[in-house]
Amino acid sequence: MSHLNSPVGILDSGIGGFSVVRQVQKLLPEENLIYFGDGAHIPYGNHSEETIVAMARYMFSALEEWGIKALLVACNTISCVVDRCEDTVSCPVFNAVQAGADAVSGLDVNKVGVISTVFTHNSHIYPQKILAQSPRKLVVLSCGCPDLARLVEHSLGDPAGMARVEENLRLELDHMVLEDRVDCCVLGCTHYPLVADSIRRLYPQLPLIDPAEEMARTLKAFLDREGLGSFRDQSGSLTIYTTGDVEEYGLRARQVGLERVAAVKYYKPMMV
Ligand code: DGL
Repeated sequence: MSHLNSPVGILDSGIGGFSVVRQVQKLLPEENLIYFGDGAHIPYGNHSEETIVAMARYMFSALEEWGIKALLVACNTISCVVDRCEDTVSCPVFNAVQAGADAVSGLDVNKVGVISTVFTHNSHIYPQKILAQSPRKLVVLSCGCPDLARLVEHSLGDPAGMARVEENLRLELDHMVLEDRVDCCVLGCTHYPLVADSIRRLYPQLPLIDPAEEMARTLKAFLDREGLGSFRDQSGSLTIYTTGDVEEYGLRARQVGLERVAAVKYYKPMMV
């Protein structure tokens, strides 16, 4: 049973959801956060729907046991199948794709680009949601990137790895930005905001939409509305669980500037 000082749960296939943690820590520093990254199974984006649902349900169930008061699905790929996972938790669930579509609905743009994993791209969820929510006629172009999330996961702080990330970004984005000339680009995979500086350097004129900011705002509005915000008078902490490499997760958390990391712990992966 959760209460006001219960933690907020945040999950992703890997470290991508750290981009959401960063925004939540900025907006709601008093909240305790529990993060779960399925490092043993990343990348999710190239798996089948059945496998993604099974792996996501495994993580949802663990977070439910830890007594969370809200869950942020900080993974666009899992957000595509969130309807098939929500019954495993008793708290409200907020997802990255909804946040990304909400963020676009407030913009004065005509042509929107979305980059995401292949699974998210193939689901057509972004164009469908953006078009359904837009009061005006928009063109939405979507691009599925098979390798980018995996490259980002293991390359932060490594010059050779980051060179591969930038090469991959050019491969995936050049056409959308330079030929199709989109007005903005939604970072439809939570790993991509972690390399936003590289994207900005490659395409300085391209406005980037990071759904993480909208997710943090949505969470804050929910906690305020329901009177569920933490009432502790000191800053909250962050506990990280991973089915992957505990040391690598600790390093990545520091590299992306996460604060008040109380512990990084191993969690047994689901057998796939
Ligand atoms: N970070 C995840 C997303 O937002 C997916 C990365 C992956 O595991 O393919 O879609």
